[in-house]
Amino acid sequence: MPRCAGCDRPGPAASRDPHPRGLLRSAAVDDSLRLRARAARAEVASGALRGAALRERLRAVPFGDRDAWVDELLGIEPPPPDGPDLPRGAVPYLPCGVDEILAVVQDAPVGPDDELVDLGSGLGRVAVLVHLLSGARTRGIEIQAPLVDRARTMSTAFGLTAVSFAHANAADCELDGSVFFLYAPCNGDLLARVVRRLEDVARRRPIVIAAVALELPDVPWLAARITSSAALTLYEPRVRPARGG
Ligand SMILES: C[S@@+](CC[C@H](N)C(=O)[O-])C[C@H]1O[C@@H](n2cnc3c(N)ncnc32)[C@H](O)[C@@H]1O
Repeated sequence: MPRCAGCDRPGPAASRDPHPRGLLRSAAVDDSLRLRARAARAEVASGALRGAALRERLRAVPFGDRDAWVDELLGIEPPPPDGPDLPRGAVPYLPCGVDEILAVVQDAPVGPDDELVDLGSGLGRVAVLVHLLSGARTRGIEIQAPLVDRARTMSTAFGLTAVSFAHANAADCELDGSVFFLYAPCNGDLLARVVRRLEDVARRRPIVIAAVALELPDVPWLAARITSSAALTLYEPRVRPARGG
């Protein structure tokens, strides 16, 4: 069972709410914070607030309010109920914390030449925020169609052509990218199949796997790197692909 490396609570496989914050607490945002987030939303929509400036704006928000602030910034409403037909081993929707997302961008690091893929992308919060912070092309792969629809609506509202979402099972689809983000999307055999897809990519090109609340100690081709966040582990292939793939 995945556990949060930061606090050792059971991860989302065991609980809907191991980190009770973010959109689950949006109601607690006070009016002035809400107004400031909405002003920032207008700047993001116009293209004026991106990259380091957005990161500084986000870091200026009190730590405990950042997740709710981002939900307000991106216009994220509470999610629809998870579908009854999630395959065995698939973890229901729960958003990753903003501070872990900031840590991925800083530590991987993620830059404009990267393509980050969020495996199990939910409402699209990671894909959209990483793109806004880094300029990277981002893609989300999500098994629940209503979540994909909501993610597409959000990125379209901001006119983000470098952000896309696919409705697919990450264990079955062809993958490509330079950074793969996993917030404990699945476990057991399903996770093992996803890791095999990642190994296929790693044979072709260098990749970084950013795993939040998820450890992959039994994957021999991966080496772990410590990061600035206790909940985040970065993994890289022990052997780099030969030139020419
Ligand atoms: C813990 S949530 C993470 C959501 C998102 N990455 C975030 O941090 O905001 C896991 C998500 O993975 C999706 N999921 C689970 N198994 C999947 C699979 N095999 N392929 C694609 N999506 C999957 C679930 O529907 C859920 O939305």
